[in-house]
Amino acid sequence: MIKNDLFLKALKGETVERPPVWMMRQAGRYLPDFMKLKEKYDFFTRCRTPELATEITVMPIHQIGTDAAILFSDILVIPQAMNIEVEMKPGVGPWLPNPIRTSKDVDNVIVPDIEETLGYVMDAIKMTKQELNNEVPLIGFAGSPWTILCYAVQGQGSKNFDKAKKFCFTNPVAAHQLLQKITDTTIAYLKAKVAAGVDAVQIFDSWGGMLSPVDYQEFSWKYIQQIIDALKDEIPVIAFGKGCWFALHEMANSGALALGVDWTLSARNARYLSGGKITLQGNFDPSRLYSPPAEIKKMVTQMINEFGKDSYIVNLGHGILPNIPVENAKAFVDAVKEYKAN
Ligand code: CP3
Repeated sequence: MIKNDLFLKALKGETVERPPVWMMRQAGRYLPDFMKLKEKYDFFTRCRTPELATEITVMPIHQIGTDAAILFSDILVIPQAMNIEVEMKPGVGPWLPNPIRTSKDVDNVIVPDIEETLGYVMDAIKMTKQELNNEVPLIGFAGSPWTILCYAVQGQGSKNFDKAKKFCFTNPVAAHQLLQKITDTTIAYLKAKVAAGVDAVQIFDSWGGMLSPVDYQEFSWKYIQQIIDALKDEIPVIAFGKGCWFALHEMANSGALALGVDWTLSARNARYLSGGKITLQGNFDPSRLYSPPAEIKKMVTQMINEFGKDSYIVNLGHGILPNIPVENAKAFVDAVKEYKAN
């Protein structure tokens, strides 16, 4: 039994004293102790060394006091395991030297053996579970197939992922083959994470909002739905789609237990579009963590009042920014813990 089970209760829509809180990308980035490790070990060494991944995962639990941990790793370990080279360039971000551009490139992409290629993630999960000692639940995650395709084809981050979209619209057969390979890999990967001990999984569709509602159905949602179908009877699934407000209705009826929403949507509209029952997670503007702590606290209280304390998980609307002062992140979490229903 997990001692602090607020997060799991909120996922199931059970009544809680106050909503749980965690922050997307909470492991690392803005924490001084993470910066120190970053100087010593490169990114994928941190991901591949279970001791380091564990240490980074539990940092925000001890230092900020969030109600759930998210495993330190990256969505791009999936393309790496599929035979697509991925580097993390300091100051640049993800860099894929041989991006996918043709049907032949797609043929060379493999659906890997998970234990062989990503066993280090399962080792990190087991070690982290031990270290957490059932204090808080552990979240595992994967990128959505579309978001992974964005990087695999574009080769790096982008404002509009134009090359990824061009590939889908000029060679849809190859694009769908690639999306299916990523989906099959992701399902096996998340099942292995469940077997290793995670308590919930989140699918990050960070770039779903780049697509029109019609293209979103075809190139993103269809594949997320396959993942949810494969996982929903084993583990709570959270679907987060940045900019995907237009799809909240389908998402709410997909078998996911909770939906992540970004800050461009009011709580009222998010509840309305998702049908009013399903647990929602979000949606503080990550840049608002630059506001003074007292103002952050006021805004968080207001956000909880607007979403309602039940069927709600307090979070940011996207990942925490790298240069947020620690005391501001702490104010965000403290405001939730101090929340009293009125
Ligand atoms: O809370 C956590 O940090 C958990 C682990 C986590 C990371 N990345 C670690 C990371 C998670 C959940 C992610 C998800 C991720 N990675 C997404 C989806 C969420 C989102 O933010 O949109 C995406 C699109 C990526 C791809 C990625 N990885 C980018 C674009 C970058 C570079 C820019 C950046 O955000 O710093 C990364 C690198 C990365 N992944 C870092 C961390 C802590 C920073 C690099 C470093 O520490 O050396």
